[in-house]
Amino acid sequence: MPAISMGKVDELEVHVLAEEHASGMFWAQHGISFLLKLDAGGREYKLLFDTGNSWEPVRHNLSLLGEDLSGLKAVVLSHRHYDHTGGLRGLLEDLNGSLPVISHPDLFRPNFVLPLRDIGIPYRREELENLGARFLLSRDPVEILPGVVTTGEVPRTSELESRMTIETYTLRDGRLVRDPLMDDNSLLVRMDGGSILLTGCSHAGIVNIVRYAHELAGPVRAVMGGFHLLGAGEERIRGTVRAFREMGVREVYTGHCTGLKAECAFMKEYGSDFKQLAVGRVYRFP
Ligand SMILES: [Fe+2]
Ligand SMILES: [Fe+2]
Repeated sequence: MPAISMGKVDELEVHVLAEEHASGMFWAQHGISFLLKLDAGGREYKLLFDTGNSWEPVRHNLSLLGEDLSGLKAVVLSHRHYDHTGGLRGLLEDLNGSLPVISHPDLFRPNFVLPLRDIGIPYRREELENLGARFLLSRDPVEILPGVVTTGEVPRTSELESRMTIETYTLRDGRLVRDPLMDDNSLLVRMDGGSILLTGCSHAGIVNIVRYAHELAGPVRAVMGGFHLLGAGEERIRGTVRAFREMGVREVYTGHCTGLKAECAFMKEYGSDFKQLAVGRVYRFP
């Protein structure tokens, strides 16, 4: 396992910019995007985690929040699906400069569901590079700031998650073959009292992701994002909630592809420590 520093972040704010639910005048959409504002060692940093499927609602939501992306350090893409990467072109056009884009080497690999529909990143690498994207694509964790690290590829060890909750395909030698979406990676922010873990769609399995995050950076305090339990059976949902408790997760923030059944199960277990995500909400971790 690659060594990461034991750095920590002092304060974190997560602004929800894209999600299926929205509060007030904010715009919802299918997809995820979070703005992270971090205070580390007396300096402030901004990072973006995913871009939603469309940039226009994200731009609208940013201005309604009174936020902008000046000084944005990097964007992290959780995986190649269009609902997480579709806003990237608009983001680069708005920034009009160079931006590190951190993700996995499979980012541009075709990905399909059947009946045939392309659900991968809707751009070519060159067109994004021409707009200023500087790709840093790694299977291993990437430490963006001391205490802020991507998980990279997540080992799939949980028996509970031996089957993926989505079947997708890619092309190999002109054939459609199953694609295990090894590009699915998450972002960890280490803080006193445990890490905050941000996930996109959790195709690697949310239990696998939390377990690996724990191995990489110690206890996980909160998990936020899409858990991809839509269509999961009772047993898997119950087992997931139990595994969260066993792994010491204290707060749960879900939305996107988590599914109502799983959200209800988490709410029942976590009470006021469970929150359903909504665009426009800001979560502060001191
Ligand atoms: Fe998604
Ligand atoms: Fe996805």
